[in-house]
Amino acid sequence: MQAKIVLLPGDGIGPEVVAQGERILQAVAKKYGHSFQFTTCPIGGCAIDEFGDPLPEKTLAACRESDAILLGAVGGPKWDDPTAKTRPEVGLLKIRKELGLFANLRPIFVSPHLVSSSPLKAEVVAGTNILFFRELTGGLYFGKSGKETNADGGETAFNTMIYSTHEIERIVRLAGQAARGRNKRVTSVDKANVLEVSRLWRRVFERVMKEEFPDIQFENVLVDAMAMYLVARPKSFDVVVTENMFGDILTDEGSQLPGSLGMLPSASIGSSGPGLYEPIHGSAPDIAGRGIANPLATILATAMLLRHSLKLDAEATAIEQAVDRVLAKGHRTSDLAMGGPSIGTTEMGSLVLAELA
Ligand code: NAD
Ligand code: IPM
Ligand code: MN
Repeated sequence: MQAKIVLLPGDGIGPEVVAQGERILQAVAKKYGHSFQFTTCPIGGCAIDEFGDPLPEKTLAACRESDAILLGAVGGPKWDDPTAKTRPEVGLLKIRKELGLFANLRPIFVSPHLVSSSPLKAEVVAGTNILFFRELTGGLYFGKSGKETNADGGETAFNTMIYSTHEIERIVRLAGQAARGRNKRVTSVDKANVLEVSRLWRRVFERVMKEEFPDIQFENVLVDAMAMYLVARPKSFDVVVTENMFGDILTDEGSQLPGSLGMLPSASIGSSGPGLYEPIHGSAPDIAGRGIANPLATILATAMLLRHSLKLDAEATAIEQAVDRVLAKGHRTSDLAMGGPSIGTTEMGSLVLAELA
């Protein structure tokens, strides 16, 4: 197979972890006889520094022409001035919107070898295997927003959580289809006891499930309760579907089931065109440049890239199994080492490569 892959390393630890992802993809290409052509483009804070734009036109054009995109992370204290003209995060939101990537798949899988790395009790987390569908191009992130100065000299600012029937239907359908290949259960998370937009979400969810997925069990859970159930009984969930910001928050919480944000990959997909694959974590300014970031979330994102965008299922599984064997042998980056011996980013990448070979 021939494929064009765009690398968007971004800021902070982004370049460190994407370098490991690229090594893995190159090794897969070599082993399985594929030809991957890589193009690296700027996004986020580094793109603001160089071009004054967190998503330069050239980056977007290269992404549009590609088969798949691997992203590291954007942002950092250098670009955090609240009065700045633009922000690194604007580039990320724009690329998601421009490419129509409305579905963000975030698997939370607890390998038996990571059970003891979780801050939660082993019997609570062992066996957890959840697939989150986070809606990615609507809701609070993209609704009408603004700020104004009040007569009393104070200020008012607002954001709007907004969804249409169509936006809800399409993400619910993807969740329902995924459940068919799993344990046939879908949980929708909302705040329908307070928010009008959640009541629409719930009505559409229930209708699509009843009409189109009679073979799938479904339930509604309020987001505040979900935050609690996720740590109390994570094993009871299969597929979870929710709006943009609820999904953002719940999946960072969920990263503590396998013990680290450095373990969770994600896939952002639309109805056509390239998918975008990235770890769910950010640029980790507190550890950037030290060579200690966990690259496994990004490496697992390359597996999702191969499976979803390139339909290379055997190659994707090979990467996932290689990661699991490295963990089984006890190798840990510092985020998972719990004070014990740890290895660096590149060494972890090399160990996965060795298992892959
Ligand atoms: P973060 O995810 O960058 O870091 C949170 C904590 O997790 C930090 O202590 C960090 O060291 C740790 N961590 C994260 N990834 C790790 C890894 N691979 N290995 C080891 N430890 C890891 O979140 P934050 O500190 O709240 O945000 C920092 C910046 O990243 C902000 O500018 C934010 O906007 C941005 N951000 C970007 C993305 C993205 O590009 N997709 C996602 C989240 C946050
Ligand atoms: C994520 C991040 C982004 C989000 C930020 C950086 C815009 O937290 O990918 O989870 O909120 O979607
Ligand atoms: Mn997030």
